[in-house]
Amino acid sequence: MEIRILSLSEINLAIKEEIASLLRRKPNAVLGLATGSSPIGVYDELVKAHKAGDISFNEVTSFNLDEYIGLNSDHPQSYRYFMNSHLFDHIDILKSRTHIPSMDKNSEDYYETYDNKIKDHGGIDFQILGIGSNGHIAFNEPGTSFDSLTHIVDLKESTIKDNSRFFNDVNEVPTKAVSMGLKSIMNTKRIVIIITGKNKANALKRLMSKEITTDFPASILHRHPKVTIYADQEAASLL
Ligand code: F6R
Repeated sequence: MEIRILSLSEINLAIKEEIASLLRRKPNAVLGLATGSSPIGVYDELVKAHKAGDISFNEVTSFNLDEYIGLNSDHPQSYRYFMNSHLFDHIDILKSRTHIPSMDKNSEDYYETYDNKIKDHGGIDFQILGIGSNGHIAFNEPGTSFDSLTHIVDLKESTIKDNSRFFNDVNEVPTKAVSMGLKSIMNTKRIVIIITGKNKANALKRLMSKEITTDFPASILHRHPKVTIYADQEAASLL
C-alpha cells in the first residue's frame, strides 16, 4: 500500500488526473464512487475538467458504495441526491448507467445482484474510498466479515454520530444502510482512499500499523495489490 501525503488541493487534482488518464485509455471505464465529505473536492475537479472539455463520461458506468435505508432518492441527505448534485448533474454521464444500491427490492437476492451487475460490467476499474473514524469503508463497520458482498448494515453509534453533522438532529440519521461488502471492494482493480483532517489522524495511524483485523475494516486493504492512500498533513500528523 502506497501513501502520498499532499495538500488537499493536490490530492483532488492528483485523483482527478488518475481518472482523466483512465478515461483517455478506456472511455467506457467503470468507476466506483463514494459519498461523504472526502471525495467532494475530486468531484469538483472532475466537473471542472468536463466543463473545460478535457473529459467525457458519456460511456462511463458507475457504482456507488452505499445508500441509507429509509431516505427517498430526492431526500437531500440520500446518497443518490448527493451524487446527482455533486457530480452527475454536471457531467455527461448517462443516469441510467449510474448505480446506487437501493431498497427498491427488499430481498437478499437483490443485493447479490448488485455484485453480479458489477461483474457483468467487467468489474470496477477505479474505486474511490473514504474512511470512517472507526475504520469503516463504505458502511462496513468493525466486525464485518472480510468475505462480505453487498448487504444490509446496522450503523454503529459512532457512525451515526459522525454523520449527524449533515442532519438537523442525530435522531434523523437513518440507522440502516445498504453497502457494498469488503469482498466487493477487494474485487475492484485499483483503489484510492482519501484520508484528510485531524479527526482522521488516529484512523490513518491505525491503518499504517499494518495489523489486519476485522475490528478495523480498512485494514483489509493491505491485501489489495493496488491501493494508494492520499492523506493530508493533518491526517498524517500522528505518523
Ligand atoms: C460513503 C462511505 C463512507 C465514507 C466515510 C467517511 O459513501 O462509504 O465510508 O467514506 O464515512 O466519510 P467522510 O468522507 O464524510 O469523512
